[in-house]
Amino acid sequence: MQKMEILPSLLAADLGRLGDEIRRAESSGADALHIDVMDAHFVPNLSFGPDVVALCRRVAPSFRRNVHLMMSRPDLYIKRFAEAGADELQIHVEADCDVHAELARIRALGLGNAIVLNPETPVERLLGYLDEVDCVLVMTVHPGYGGQKFIGECLPKIEVLRAARPSLDIMVDGGLNAETIPLAAAAGANQFVAGSYLFAQADMGAAIGALREKLDR
Ligand code: DX5
Ligand code: ZN
Repeated sequence: MQKMEILPSLLAADLGRLGDEIRRAESSGADALHIDVMDAHFVPNLSFGPDVVALCRRVAPSFRRNVHLMMSRPDLYIKRFAEAGADELQIHVEADCDVHAELARIRALGLGNAIVLNPETPVERLLGYLDEVDCVLVMTVHPGYGGQKFIGECLPKIEVLRAARPSLDIMVDGGLNAETIPLAAAAGANQFVAGSYLFAQADMGAAIGALREKLDR
């Protein structure tokens, strides 16, 4: 079975204390930090650029940086995010570029790659990419904002992907908490992004520990 991983999403951090929040996520025992990049075109919001990824590397050098590019043209920025210290780059199948070529380029730069699927996109769109990726990320909210409600109708996509690839990493992102993570796990996901749920915890370490106990059962 794939390793179960929990990734806090930096989007929900207290931006006035960004360095402390990055360290808090790392010392809570999270497996990696999920960093959401929004371009105000692919999604109706703006968030972090390469400088924030570089800050994460400076503050917590050995805390893996998982970078989710919600961008129409990720191809124009892959090199900059790689130089800034991304360990993994995730690009959308709906992006406006040669997605096969960009997935290959991410790997050629020595990084992990992933293909991401929006809620309204059929899972069949991904099937031609599964031999080229380290991970598939299934969105369970419409990307652009944290704190949205989990869309349970996306769960069957995870089941299809798990049946197609028993040993692929399947990540899920959006609306995840102690109630919805077990649903995504039962469908076959093994990597869980949580923003507002984890950063709202007074004791993030205890919350991650409790999630791991549920997942191990
Ligand atoms: C949504 C982002 C998510 C977001 C998740 O556009 O891709 O990673 O930060 O936030 P929560 O966990 O609050 O739904
Ligand atoms: Zn994300």
